[in-house]
Amino acid sequence: VKQQIIRLLKENIRNIPDFPKPGIQFKDITPLLKNPDTLELTSQVLAHPFRHMDIDYVVGLESRGFLFGTNLAQDLHAGFVPIRKPGKLPAETITATYALEYGKDEIQMHKDAFEKGDRILIHDDLIATGGSAKAATELVEGLGGNVVGYSFIVELTALHGVDKLPADVKKEILISL
Ligand code: PRP
Ligand code: MG
Repeated sequence: VKQQIIRLLKENIRNIPDFPKPGIQFKDITPLLKNPDTLELTSQVLAHPFRHMDIDYVVGLESRGFLFGTNLAQDLHAGFVPIRKPGKLPAETITATYALEYGKDEIQMHKDAFEKGDRILIHDDLIATGGSAKAATELVEGLGGNVVGYSFIVELTALHGVDKLPADVKKEILISL
């Protein structure tokens, strides 16, 4: 059953060549969001491996990590913490710098996002180079959080982003492209 669900999800992710720059194959999840069946199934399949893992907070990366992140948090009865692009969060923040597949940027998180020792699940729609997930890890660990899992819908295997993340932490990826 799981394989059939994954195939259905895969069919609802479309490739857009040369977006946002020539040479980039953009993986567009808007068909997955548009289809009520895949919208619901994606949430369910994302949450399943992390049930009973006692997650305190799901940390989601702006902006596409917000789409399923809050739902994932609700499903796990965890709270949701946003990581945002610079200048968006209103209270005191910490900052990490990262290299993106196309470009370079900084991300921020509120200093009071969670307590030291809290169990954190990092979620994003996609891992490419792994730069943003690694920067998110630095933010969480910088506040004394315990990263106990990573959740991505899509992985671009050719870019080996997962190799940038701690080897001993659980990683769940629905679709490897
Ligand atoms: C994309 C994607 C991931 C990130 C992955 O976000 O949603 O967050 O890139 O790349 P990496 O593994 O090389 O760091 P993007 O910065 O395009 O912004 P968006 O989510 O706001 O669309
Ligand atoms: Mg993103």
